[in-house]
Amino acid sequence: MTVNQIIGDSPNQIFANFGKRFFAWMMAQTSSTYDKIVGDRKRSLFANLQGKVLEIGPGTGPNLPYYPKNIHWIGIEPNPHMHFYLHKQAEKLGLNIDLRIGNAEWLDAEDNSIDTVISTLVLCSVPNIDYTLQAILRVLKPGGRFLFIEHVAAPQKTLLRQLQSTISPIWKVIGDGCHPDRETWIALENAGFTSVNYERFDAQLPIVSPHIIGVAIK
Ligand SMILES: C[S@@+](CC[C@H](N)C(=O)[O-])C[C@H]1O[C@@H](n2cnc3c(N)ncnc32)[C@H](O)[C@@H]1O
Repeated sequence: MTVNQIIGDSPNQIFANFGKRFFAWMMAQTSSTYDKIVGDRKRSLFANLQGKVLEIGPGTGPNLPYYPKNIHWIGIEPNPHMHFYLHKQAEKLGLNIDLRIGNAEWLDAEDNSIDTVISTLVLCSVPNIDYTLQAILRVLKPGGRFLFIEHVAAPQKTLLRQLQSTISPIWKVIGDGCHPDRETWIALENAGFTSVNYERFDAQLPIVSPHIIGVAIK
């Protein structure tokens, strides 16, 4: 029996747990709308996946329909309330999945063991992006690929950037730790990949419209 089972959860834990549960429900409701915007890009980014594929923060599993059935998929998702939706999605698609609780900063995988790491809308949320990118580099095989689609900070000195920075403290609370003004491309360029190629696109969304999509090679 755990201490929490004996003394009960504190109000803060109950609030945090409710927040995680609500966020998972909300992602399950909204991901199909987001996929109408980025679906074509996902299809081309995820073409030719093979071998061991590790997805960080897979959430409710909106990327699963884009994957071939013969890959070995490992998901590292810290929010346990996402797992219910993800398992349901995998079952619907007839996919075998290996879903684990964990976080991207301390990836539960061997060094040089993964062919492809995938992240969509996760680098904005991880508490430490530099640790996350080092963990990805550690687990990727030499020549392995990191595929990403991320919303990022708007260009400096624009009205949107000002808005992103102003709203950031509240956004982090309602968005489960999401930073709307993170300059993710700078962290990617400085992480030590052999190459980083990405393009920007506008997802036509409020606050988090600026996106990058790309491939970094170890
Ligand atoms: C905005 S959601 C995106 C989910 C999914 N990738 C998608 O495209 O819909 C952010 C996800 O990152 C996960 N996350 C947050 N912090 C994380 C961390 N440190 N390591 C791994 N995943 C994390 C959250 O639990 C959530 O599932």
